[in-house]
Amino acid sequence: MKVIATIGELRAALKSERLAGKTIGLVPTMGYLHVGHMELVRRSKAAADVTVVSIFVNPTQFGPNEDLSTYPRDMEGDLGKLRAEGVDYAFTPEVAEIYRPGADTIVDTPVLSRILIGKIRPGHFRGVTTVVTKLFNIVQPDHAFFGEKDYQQLTIIRRMVADLDMPIEITGVATVREEDGVACSSRNAMLTPADRKAAVVLSRSLARAEELAAKGQRSVSAIRNAVRSVLEAEKRGQIESVDIRDAQTLDPVSGKFRQPAVILLTVRFGKVRLIDQRVVG
Ligand code: PAF
Repeated sequence: MKVIATIGELRAALKSERLAGKTIGLVPTMGYLHVGHMELVRRSKAAADVTVVSIFVNPTQFGPNEDLSTYPRDMEGDLGKLRAEGVDYAFTPEVAEIYRPGADTIVDTPVLSRILIGKIRPGHFRGVTTVVTKLFNIVQPDHAFFGEKDYQQLTIIRRMVADLDMPIEITGVATVREEDGVACSSRNAMLTPADRKAAVVLSRSLARAEELAAKGQRSVSAIRNAVRSVLEAEKRGQIESVDIRDAQTLDPVSGKFRQPAVILLTVRFGKVRLIDQRVVG
């Protein structure tokens, strides 16, 4: 595996791969890799000839009072995992390589980025779409892979790729879960042991919703109430949001849903914000 930190060097290496007729898969990450990331890597290796994994903790997607400085990092451990998985290139730029002095361009999806998590984290998705566009321009991948756990992020990236005619196939990969059902996330490492145990309430509440939907329940309020009552029973978690939206567009749904709906949860344990999601119907 080649570890490359500059845009110029990565572009030169990938140009040779392209000239040799190889297709390129990109897995953008912020590092502290877990089994969920490795599933994205496996999907990329199956779909493309060459896999590039970027490791970049993107400062522009963190708000002023968010966890940028405490975001977990383990570059050596990450590179070991990527080598073991047979990744071809790890792109590990410094912040100054990605954001150069005088930069004045952003990429924004002003409607989708300001709802749901975008309301709780103003500016977050603008940071994501800007850095993902830059990574797409640097790597020029044929395929790119994102986890479905970050459902709104995936929806926004699909929208951006369609709107800006980016010739990239976006693949959403199902959430990988730990043994007790908690969605794999780099932020799980920031939970206290008691909060980590309590975090199972998110997937438990979604399982309850799925059970109801499987029995034919389509009432948005009945499903929301059922999810909330499971979440409220766990006093360690502070519920930030329980939303039920159209699974394709993220438009609000009310009354009874007729198309698949996605349940989106945001729950805080101390300072750590966890999200999870499930598509039902
Ligand atoms: O999902 C993430 O880890 C980040 O938002 C991404 C897509 C790598 C952009 O920084």
